[in-house]
Amino acid sequence: MKQDSRIIIFDTTLRDGEQSPGVSLNMEEKIQIGRQLEKLGIDVLEAGFPVASPGDYEGVQRLARELKGLQVAALARAVRKDIDTAWEAIRDGANPRIHTFLATSDIHLKYKLRKTREEVLEMAGEAVKYASGFTSNIEFSAEDASRTDLDFLCQVFERVIDAGATTVNFPDTVGYAIPWDFGRMIKYVMENTSNIHKAVLSIHCHNDLGLATANALSAINEGARQVECTINGIGERAGNTAMEEVVMAIRTRHDCLPYETNINTRHISSTSRMVSMLTGMIVQPNKAVVGANAFAHESGIHQDGVLKERTTYEVMDPKDIGLTHGRLVLGKHSGRHAIKAKLEEMGYELSDEEMDRVFKRFKVVADKKKEVFPEDLDVIVAEEVLRIPETYKLIYLHVAGGSGIRPTATVGLDIDGEEKIGVSIGAGPIDAAFNAVSNLVHTRSKLLRFTVNSITGGTDAQGEVTVRLQEGDRVVTGQGADPDIITASVRAYLTALNRLAYRK
Ligand code: KIV
Ligand code: ZN
Repeated sequence: MKQDSRIIIFDTTLRDGEQSPGVSLNMEEKIQIGRQLEKLGIDVLEAGFPVASPGDYEGVQRLARELKGLQVAALARAVRKDIDTAWEAIRDGANPRIHTFLATSDIHLKYKLRKTREEVLEMAGEAVKYASGFTSNIEFSAEDASRTDLDFLCQVFERVIDAGATTVNFPDTVGYAIPWDFGRMIKYVMENTSNIHKAVLSIHCHNDLGLATANALSAINEGARQVECTINGIGERAGNTAMEEVVMAIRTRHDCLPYETNINTRHISSTSRMVSMLTGMIVQPNKAVVGANAFAHESGIHQDGVLKERTTYEVMDPKDIGLTHGRLVLGKHSGRHAIKAKLEEMGYELSDEEMDRVFKRFKVVADKKKEVFPEDLDVIVAEEVLRIPETYKLIYLHVAGGSGIRPTATVGLDIDGEEKIGVSIGAGPIDAAFNAVSNLVHTRSKLLRFTVNSITGGTDAQGEVTVRLQEGDRVVTGQGADPDIITASVRAYLTALNRLAYRK
């Protein structure tokens, strides 16, 4: 039984996280997130599911080739074609991992796979044996493990470990587990899989009942030594275990959780913002650790306590996750060198040409806003560097609104190099601006979601807008940020429209 205290952090933001409804990252966005995760100190990065699409394959391949400081994993069903494709995508990596999976619960066997337990046992062993022809770094996941007969699960794990699996993963695929019962199951597997000492036992929890982090911690307590998780807890349906929650629980309650991770927690906040910005998955304000309100104190009694002694009402120090709230970082007199140094400290490596664009935009923002925080820089980089090719570019925007008048908007767009002007009225200034844009672009897309968030405090804060559009069966998101929320909204709308145009 492995009882060392090191917990392996396996991040699946770019695979399970990218399976969140409406999320679709382009190559540059995946690379940017990958680099940030490397800097954060994760051990294994699941880069994607190469057989799923040529885009997934290419993304996994680029991440494997570029990120040398961690293991890059590729997902594959337990069939040769998937395993071949996964291996081709990751073979150039420094320490590539094949992650193959097969369902083991009776309900999946009966309705999905239409296979007997014996057939599944055989298939799992075969798949791992086949993968071991490529690498010795192999993970096997028993999909729907938490609804699988435990003796059969132990049999499957025994078989795949004999065939060469070095990690066996116990997913709570449907988010059905309850912490103490999940712990009991993990203990059972640890005690009844004869060769478990030859492998690392991993867990992968979904958050359908809001218990993904609690289940992960309970599993660690019973011997699991790899946690599969995502930034901000994004993922299929209600998402996965949130990396920042597990890591900060271990750090904060080391008395109950005497374990170690390799995570540099000071990068948590900027990683969370980057993932939220690029995926368009807004973090709920009351989200543990990384929500906008996680360190905000509203009640006078609490404010008074925190001012006297922070620990009266804060169990974590915001600095430990890299938060610099309230501290003036940069202003309109800051020079290019200062911005570059700050960006490097935050984990961005920009080319000179990218730096030119970021600096130009920084000056515009700093002119409107007295204090520029790291959070502002995150969105500037996301907008200026990580954007997809633009079919539609905003040249200018003029809106008139107020009480007692009909809101109107005039928008100037560069469409494939030609300047076009659109004018419209609307229910409000944002509606008028969107109508003016859609008249020019002739889009048939439907607006599914429109959200506005304030990036930092104060009335001069940048507004961060996320727009989700649907055209046919394609769903895309776009983000925009600006101290003027109407401009931020139009930017977000154009980003989403550009994504639709790019995908076409
Ligand atoms: O939820 C799940 O079971 C998965 C597996 C592929 C690990 O994502
Ligand atoms: Zn999953």
